[in-house]
Amino acid sequence: MSSLTQSPAWLALQAHYEQTRHLHLRELFLHDPGRAERMSIEVCDMLLDYSKNRVTDQTLRQLIDLAKQENVPQRIAAMFSGEKINVTENRAVLHTALRNRANTPVYVDGEDVMPKVNAVLARIGNFCDRVRHGEWLGYTGQPITDIVNIGIGGSDLGPLMVCEALKPYGHPRLNMHFVSNVDGAQIVDVLRKCHTATTLFVIESKTFTTSETLTNAHTARNWFLRSSRDEKAIAKHFVAVSTNAKAVSEFGIDTNNMFEFWNWVGGRYSLWSAIGLPIALLLGKEHFQALQTGAHMMDQHFRNAPLEKNMPVIMALLGIWYGNFHGAASQVIAPYNQSLHRLPAYMQQLDMESNGKSIRLDGSRVDYQTSGVIWGETGINGQHAYFQMLHQGAQLIPIDFIASIENPSTLPDHHQILLANFFAQAEAFMRGKTEAEVRTELLAQGIEGEKAAKLLPHKVFEGNRPSNTLLLHRLDPKTLGALIALYEHKIFTQGVIWGINSFDQWGVELGKQLATTIHAELMNPLPAQHHDSSTNRLINYYKQRAKV
Ligand code: F6P
Repeated sequence: MSSLTQSPAWLALQAHYEQTRHLHLRELFLHDPGRAERMSIEVCDMLLDYSKNRVTDQTLRQLIDLAKQENVPQRIAAMFSGEKINVTENRAVLHTALRNRANTPVYVDGEDVMPKVNAVLARIGNFCDRVRHGEWLGYTGQPITDIVNIGIGGSDLGPLMVCEALKPYGHPRLNMHFVSNVDGAQIVDVLRKCHTATTLFVIESKTFTTSETLTNAHTARNWFLRSSRDEKAIAKHFVAVSTNAKAVSEFGIDTNNMFEFWNWVGGRYSLWSAIGLPIALLLGKEHFQALQTGAHMMDQHFRNAPLEKNMPVIMALLGIWYGNFHGAASQVIAPYNQSLHRLPAYMQQLDMESNGKSIRLDGSRVDYQTSGVIWGETGINGQHAYFQMLHQGAQLIPIDFIASIENPSTLPDHHQILLANFFAQAEAFMRGKTEAEVRTELLAQGIEGEKAAKLLPHKVFEGNRPSNTLLLHRLDPKTLGALIALYEHKIFTQGVIWGINSFDQWGVELGKQLATTIHAELMNPLPAQHHDSSTNRLINYYKQRAKV
């Protein structure tokens, strides 16, 4: 048994769970009219209503005790101060410094990183202005019309999600494209829409060794050279964002066209760094700055608000309550906003790559669940797909409902319908529909007796299905920045409580290594024979039939 599961706060929560697990949210609301007001936090133009969770005031107090027991406030301070909390890589974790709009000094190894951060931001601003104002010209003298971001994971998902979310703020001349998949179908499709003379490629890779990204970057380079026939023209059409200047230069991109960031920025936390270049290109430096300002405001809240009123901490604790005590294995992200359609995918990497760990900081194995499965889709589409399971399935799956009061992309009458569904679903999950209510409904339809008795259990909704409701005042750069930072800090808080390192990702290495070996075998005429019988057979089956 780990010290966590044997700790006083954990054991007290376990006992409390046994006492409260049969409580129904419908009852809690019925007997407590002040519940919603008490269980709400408003910060950074965003309201979190967490009253539709299976908690009492006592539960919340005990969860806060757990956070205190696990030194959450001290760990927050350690992260912000530049302490090397990513111990397996011996790195500080300072995505917060990238958006430190207060510009207060932040030290890593005795050096204030803010001058470097500001210098890169200034270069980004300058470059983006030139592209956006039509002053950065391609090799035939024409302004840029299409930007192709080539990157994967954190070098794709953040910029892609934000560019989609804030499209209405985008420059009308610029079309954004994202290529992440090494499946050539994606880049072929994108290049079909672009012209060499007016396309700018942004090659994003923290390490500049990621095979998917480099393969796509080489394909883009060849495509470009086939038309331009001029190596020198590459400087006008290819820029790189990386921590690895040597590899960028070896690829053939002038390091004057490289935007730098640092190893204390994790890939999945990097959209605030130069990795946000596509965002700044599309939206302009002012909107990119506003995104950072929103995140900075959330940082301040996370650092300074008491745990009881701390939005990321409360969301983290609720997640722990369901995952570790109620046995929930997954969590749904349901944005009721088409512009946020890539948010669930972004959250998958942010959460599961951060907290999908089973070894504690001290090297011991956990005896409790860590990151659950994060999944989802725009809420309204989910309603017509998997919400059935959320309503009446056998598992408990908490949901985060996210919507904005104002949305510049939508049509007013559509928005009302969307929000009606948003409010209705959260209510339905909470209340459910009782046997008595179903019976009355059936009677009204003239269904009685045996027929009604048979139908009745199928039409009952247990309810008591928990959710958070996040209502943004509007979907704008500042609020989106705060929303992203909210989840970053939620995930960090959970990692602290679970005693794991949320900032490494050794788990993705094995697959990468094996793929490199197998790639060589696919090109070798001899059959593969060094793997297990299944892998050998599959590789050889493919090789016999492939027409590559
Ligand atoms: O999938 C692992 C990973 O290292 C992610 O953490 C990262 O965001 C992604 O690959 C891309 O890495 P890079 O930016 O170095 O190309």
